[in-house]
Amino acid sequence: MPRPAENLLTGFIQAFHRDDAAIRAELVAGLLAEHAAVHPKFLYDPLGSKLFEAICELPEYYPTRMEAAIFARHLPALADVVGAGITLIDLGAGNCAKAARLFDALMPRQYVPVDISVEFLREAVAQIRQRHPELPVTGVGLDFSQSLELPDAVGRTRRLFFYPGSSIGNFTPGQALAFLRRMCAACHDEGGEGGGLLIGVDLVKEKRVLDAAYDDALGVTAAFNLNLLQHLNTLLGADFDLRDWRHRGFFNAAESCVEMHLEARRDVEVAWLDGRRRFAEGERIHTESSYKYTRDGFLRMLEEAGFVAPRTWTDERGWFMVCHARASH
Ligand code: AVJ
Repeated sequence: MPRPAENLLTGFIQAFHRDDAAIRAELVAGLLAEHAAVHPKFLYDPLGSKLFEAICELPEYYPTRMEAAIFARHLPALADVVGAGITLIDLGAGNCAKAARLFDALMPRQYVPVDISVEFLREAVAQIRQRHPELPVTGVGLDFSQSLELPDAVGRTRRLFFYPGSSIGNFTPGQALAFLRRMCAACHDEGGEGGGLLIGVDLVKEKRVLDAAYDDALGVTAAFNLNLLQHLNTLLGADFDLRDWRHRGFFNAAESCVEMHLEARRDVEVAWLDGRRRFAEGERIHTESSYKYTRDGFLRMLEEAGFVAPRTWTDERGWFMVCHARASH
């Protein structure tokens, strides 16, 4: 719950109440489903967030670098399109590094990093405040996939939602549309000036490239995926033995998404506080979908969500796209 005194001291607001019972119920329902599945947000415990940072350094994982190159190259044009004095709302801010690279060009009046990984974000906010003492920073611990309702302390001045890294891919296209609609609605200030969205989108490409990006030679993505089981052991009091499982990551062209699974290496039985399940050898737990879009397909979705005047920037090969659009109405 928001604690104003804490906010002033640390620039951090815990805006969601972590309901451990509900989380456990959600996880258990997923584990007991015929096709077992766990929501990808559970990949990001403190170690998982660090492993994701390591993924971004991998030669095979191109999105982070490519997006950074597009931003670096088009920063002046971007600043023109965005305009001055925005409240920069960074969804899934992590270590806040991506947004920090935009500060000089965009000169936001306020920076609002939002993340579900609260401990990690708290640390990042402390560092950002040291490095940018002049910039008002309000970190918000929030599961924004559930709610985009920001604490009152954030205010209503012109908002730019910053959603980089192609994290939108974690939603199914239907969920993505609904989420974009909610962002569009949350953009508006009282003056009706309207805000906007700055988003990174990974584009459809050769399967070979996508397979490698999600199943790297060094095995960092495998560690990232397997760490989920460790996180489940903590959250559920489960007894997953990581050595019983292997990482799978591949592009499903028919669905236009990369899928990550954990696959049982042998018949195993897993127990947790108040339940258990057998997994046969080869059986999988679905841990992530990462949808890939075409430029036109994504622009259609943006328009349907209520965004207008889209501008896009991409790399020579058309592997990744950065897009800005304004909230209409
Ligand atoms: C953070 C969701 C954008 O889908 O590429 C990276 C997560 N999973 N490698 C992605 C991820 C495996 C990443 N997103």
